Amino acid sequence: MYLKQKPYNKIGVVDSGLGGLTVFKKVKKLMPNKQYIYLADSANVPYGTKTKEQMIKISENIVRFFNEQQIDLLVLACNTLTSIAMDYMKSIANFDIIGVVEYGVNSAVKNTTNKKVGVIATKATVDNGLYEKLLKKNGIYVIQSACPDFVGFVEDDCKDYDKISEKVKEYLRPIMEFEADTIILGCTHYPILINYLKQYTGENITFIDPADSLSEDIYEICGNYGNKCDIEYFVTKNPSDFKINGSKIIGEPIDKVTEME
Ligand code: DGL
Repeated sequence: MYLKQKPYNKIGVVDSGLGGLTVFKKVKKLMPNKQYIYLADSANVPYGTKTKEQMIKISENIVRFFNEQQIDLLVLACNTLTSIAMDYMKSIANFDIIGVVEYGVNSAVKNTTNKKVGVIATKATVDNGLYEKLLKKNGIYVIQSACPDFVGFVEDDCKDYDKISEKVKEYLRPIMEFEADTIILGCTHYPILINYLKQYTGENITFIDPADSLSEDIYEICGNYGNKCDIEYFVTKNPSDFKINGSKIIGEPIDKVTEME
């Protein structure tokens, strides 16, 4: 539990693109009667190859946008943003902020029986090492694997079956050799590839999606008060792609998307 006891009626959710919709979907399912603002920073995707300096600049613009929107709570649905910029964002935001990383760590610690956990994430998240640090603090043996092609596969609507299967094998083989019994999906785009991942690992591995415990935590704190669901979508580029591919992920039509400057 990382949140303060507050009503949190207007909730922002941010990701570099489509991936954060896997988090938003779970939050919205538990709390359909809230006001939401989802921001896909599609002009800057992928975050996973950016430097710390670039991410701090990006995070400043995100906070400025959500300060103007006067939200109560911002969900950093992006592992890369959480790992690199959450502390800085908290220092300049007029709202509370939670990020996915601690939720992934706690769920993995609870789940593992052999204390061996794999983390798959973007290169920036792996290099930052927050997952590794927090897991090790809990006495867990950790192996991380950066999966640079996965975000592109998802943003491109997962069209190339053979290529995806080949890359899944390449990125997950070291984790299987390490004999991890738990793998954290350390990037919000990856739950969309879950069938590919399970096809390679088999059923004996548990995949942790941090969005599960994160959404339960928000729900526990602020309940589903309010009387209607109101969602506004914003993107920084390509609103029509977001409408088409985003609808498939969220499982309902996305009719209106506003493109920001
Ligand atoms: N989906 C984001 C994450 O959870 C980042 C993907 C990217 O833009 O590289 O890390």
